[in-house]
Amino acid sequence: MVSRAAARLAADTPAIATAHFRAEADPYHPVTNPQGYVNLGTAENRLMWDLLAPRLTTPRNLAATDVHYGQLHGMADLRAAIAALLGQTWRTPVDGEHLVVVSGATAALDIAATVLCDLGEAIVVPAPYYSALDVDLVGRSGARLIPVPMAAAGGFPLDPAELDRALGGLRRDNVAVRAIAVTSPSNPQGHLHRAATLSELLRVAWVHDVDVIADEIYAHSVFGPGRFVSVRDPDVLARVPEVDPDRVHVVWGFAKDFALSGLKVGVLHTSGAQTLAAARALAYFSPTSTDTQVLLRDLLTDTAWVRHFLAQGKIRLAASYRHATDLLNRHGIGYIPAAAAFSLWVDLRDHLAEASFAAEHGLWQRIFGTAKLNILPGKFFSSPEPGWFRLCYAIDPKVVRDGVARLGAVLAHSRRTA
Ligand SMILES: Cc1ncc(COP(=O)(O)O)c(C=O)c1O
Repeated sequence: MVSRAAARLAADTPAIATAHFRAEADPYHPVTNPQGYVNLGTAENRLMWDLLAPRLTTPRNLAATDVHYGQLHGMADLRAAIAALLGQTWRTPVDGEHLVVVSGATAALDIAATVLCDLGEAIVVPAPYYSALDVDLVGRSGARLIPVPMAAAGGFPLDPAELDRALGGLRRDNVAVRAIAVTSPSNPQGHLHRAATLSELLRVAWVHDVDVIADEIYAHSVFGPGRFVSVRDPDVLARVPEVDPDRVHVVWGFAKDFALSGLKVGVLHTSGAQTLAAARALAYFSPTSTDTQVLLRDLLTDTAWVRHFLAQGKIRLAASYRHATDLLNRHGIGYIPAAAAFSLWVDLRDHLAEASFAAEHGLWQRIFGTAKLNILPGKFFSSPEPGWFRLCYAIDPKVVRDGVARLGAVLAHSRRTA
């Protein structure tokens, strides 16, 4: 017999993780396992190992203190190194004392939600959204997520006016909302948010007296057009002087920009004394190993290496994006153009037997179950409309080619409603 909270967590494993592990248990290889799963469902950058390997496989000088207990919200020198990097990205000094380093952005999201929400209080998210937020922001905090559908034109871009309307309605219904959570750049669409949009988002949060949680885990995984603007960018904050920056919390991590997803290291930036103290207290339950912290500190303090690595990351992502979109174009498969992150929001609406999530599920069964291609249906992302799928492409181009070919073959046999 387990507690109700544990039973709920066990029942709610993110669908995205379930599909990932099923695909990875029988991975496609053109020669040794041609019938295996092609995994274009997992947002990992697998293009960077040649640059990481020399750093990660060289024996390191560890001091005894490096394997003793360290501060549970992150060693001061790692936090200082992360602060220096984020300070450049945000174009404003970042105080390492405002950072809480934990075991992944997932843990940082869990902490942000737990710090802000009491049981049953709500966090509003523009939909579609990164599907694991259903668990990350809810599973342990006991908060609830309220998706707000964004308008379809242009691929459901972030529209603070829609959030404003929804928050007004929730207030009239006496729903206690504590925060708006966004991904920036957005996952699944890979959109960059403009400074004006972000300041409008902050203004809406201020009007409704709620905090903002911005998941900026893809901040450096940008290939354009456009540049990444943080929600803490001075231009964003300057437009809304009424907003208290202490109510703007940012999540970042090493999984995407540094292609180090398996190390599970994330960070929460929160500057208010109370939220910081509470986040540090929660970090006790999900700290990062000191060995990993030392590794990352040494990586980040080699600023020339970081510059080169991040620049290469952008070049390689741009090439893999071009390759994936060329393939989709050749197969006549529509998608929303992206400027960042590792995924494309692919439009398969015309291939549904009818415009319903049941039909989307049916198509997904053929793609995942029969063709053994892991791409994820929009339902997982609370898509406002059926027929959209997320396809990740930051992997070996040959695998992307074979995956898109499998998709093309399924679609060639699916009924078009148009
Ligand atoms: C927007 C977003 N946040 C958080 C995560 C998870 O990060 P981590 O592996 O550091 O927990 C992901 C991974 O896909 C993501 O896309």
